[in-house]
Amino acid sequence: MPNFKSVIIATGSYLPENVVSNEKLSETVETSHEWIVERTGIHQRHFAAEGQTTSDLATKAAKEALERANLGPNDIDLIIVATASSDYTFPSCATRVQDKIGNTKGLAFDVAAVCAGYLLGLNVADSFLRLGKAKRALVIGAETVSSLLDMEDRTTCVLFGDGAGAVILEAIEDKDNPKDRGLIGVDLESDGRLYDILHADGGPSSTQTIGKLRMTGQEVFKHAVTKLANSAEKTLEQYNMKPDELDWLIPHQANARIIEGMRRKLDMDESKVIVTVDKHANTSAASIPLALHDAVKSGKVKEGDLILHEAIGGGLIWGSALLRF
Ligand code: UT7
Repeated sequence: MPNFKSVIIATGSYLPENVVSNEKLSETVETSHEWIVERTGIHQRHFAAEGQTTSDLATKAAKEALERANLGPNDIDLIIVATASSDYTFPSCATRVQDKIGNTKGLAFDVAAVCAGYLLGLNVADSFLRLGKAKRALVIGAETVSSLLDMEDRTTCVLFGDGAGAVILEAIEDKDNPKDRGLIGVDLESDGRLYDILHADGGPSSTQTIGKLRMTGQEVFKHAVTKLANSAEKTLEQYNMKPDELDWLIPHQANARIIEGMRRKLDMDESKVIVTVDKHANTSAASIPLALHDAVKSGKVKEGDLILHEAIGGGLIWGSALLRF
């Protein structure tokens, strides 16, 4: 039996139509465009319309990826949605997407790792594909973070946005050639002792409400800088790669200062870093696949490019992924 690896064969994304500027937010909360840009690099974000759910955004991203791959819904046998803002407490967002795209076979489920969720989704899908348990997987990061925001809390409400990004992974024979396309590896770690510095203060078994997003920003910032750098270093070392071999750093888009810190640590040229935080803000699990699709669409990222992803989110949970696109 051949060994398999997972190759991204198509990407897709969706952003809600409603674009909210920093100026707009400063009409209702004590903040300013200047403060937000200086501290985060964010200029605007998209917010879902009333009644527009996370599975609606995920479905649009998934349909675009299917179209670009020239595949029908039943060509997929695994659907994974990474989200912290699902439509319902249950069933999973992924089963809603399965229904909405018209997939009637295979398995659909969610993974919960907040902003690191897309990396976990990739890792889980890759395990299925490598084991021959699925041939093609849709991995989607989708969020309506706006549903979790306390719009009176200026320390959080200016930072986040809604959106969805999707990739289709296909199992191909692994010929053990490092120049071949495919996911090379994912490193993920978590430390549950740090749960309270980034969390939603509600849930079915605690408050019977969904809660609101709470974050001690400076603490998360400190952990982000060190943990992301350590994970990236570990992943590169494990696969015997040097930062100067990377074509692209496509990081989780939380804060332009964190991204800049990572760029410097890796000593990469600015032109090799994909930044979308200015347009999208922090879309949690959706941010990496949204940035990837943006870069593919604009013709920056091409087949065969070596890409490093990194992300950190509530848990805390963090990690990195290395792949040849
Ligand atoms: O995706 C998950 C991972 N999340 C992250 O990686 C986020 C990590 N953290 C951050 O990105 C940054 O810590 C923030 C952007 C959240 C905050 O930036 P900061 O430079 O750490 O600011 P700060 O929290 O130290 O706040 C500085 C000042 C405070 O005022 P005082 O106490 O110095 O008088 C805040 O009250 O800025 C004030 N402030 C604001 N002012 C205007 C906080 N939020 C705002 C605001 N507008 N929206």
